[in-house]
Amino acid sequence: MLQGERVTLRGITRDDLPRLWAFNNDLAVELAGGGDPPIPQALERLRAEFDRDVAGGGRDGARFAIEVDGRFVGQCGLAAIEETHRTAMLGIAIGDRECWGRGYGREAVRLLLDYAFRLRNLRRVWLWVHADNARAIAAYRASGFVEEGRLREHVWSNGRYVDAVQMGVLRAEWPGA
Ligand SMILES: CC(C)(COP(=O)(O)OP(=O)(O)OC[C@H]1O[C@@H](n2cnc3c(N)ncnc32)[C@H](O)[C@@H]1OP(=O)(O)O)[C@@H](O)C(=O)NCCC(=O)NCCS
Repeated sequence: MLQGERVTLRGITRDDLPRLWAFNNDLAVELAGGGDPPIPQALERLRAEFDRDVAGGGRDGARFAIEVDGRFVGQCGLAAIEETHRTAMLGIAIGDRECWGRGYGREAVRLLLDYAFRLRNLRRVWLWVHADNARAIAAYRASGFVEEGRLREHVWSNGRYVDAVQMGVLRAEWPGA
């Protein structure tokens, strides 16, 4: 649906689930992702959640599969879309570790920002990232995000407390505007 130079963002399909399941059970990906504490996940549960979601009807949310060279390598999307404030929270996880540090992340983030600002008429996109996730912070900075604040030692991650950094980008200051 959204086409970059090397990265495509499209809807997630049921065929993506076995690879998504492997990503969700990769501790390094889970720790970097910074969401809930790592918890094992069954493929059956992932499939059941997908099927329940589809059976519920309605439209898919702003959640995308990240595809590189025709391969599903991770997911990204916008959540907490606020129609009044015109804001959304960005999330991304490239689960295929072979694909880290090759510029795919920043390309996916730029595609998402273009989607947010140009196609969804949003005004501000923001996110939380662990302060020790230097790769993610570099990719976000390269896409126009700036640090807006931090909660000190807010997160227990991998045996220690780390700061939670909030970053954001306004449409007016976005390089692609
Ligand atoms: C975070 C993520 C989306 C970034 O995508 P990516 O394709 O790996 O990142 P990019 O190649 O676009 O950019 C990485 C930047 O970090 C730098 N970098 C790469 N490896 C690094 C490392 N080990 N430590 C610090 N910086 C590193 C690169 O040099 C590059 O910055 P530069 O262009 O200024 O030199 C991806 O790595 C990922 O999904 N990781 C796992 C989950 C995660 O961390 N999600 C984010 C949660 S907030």
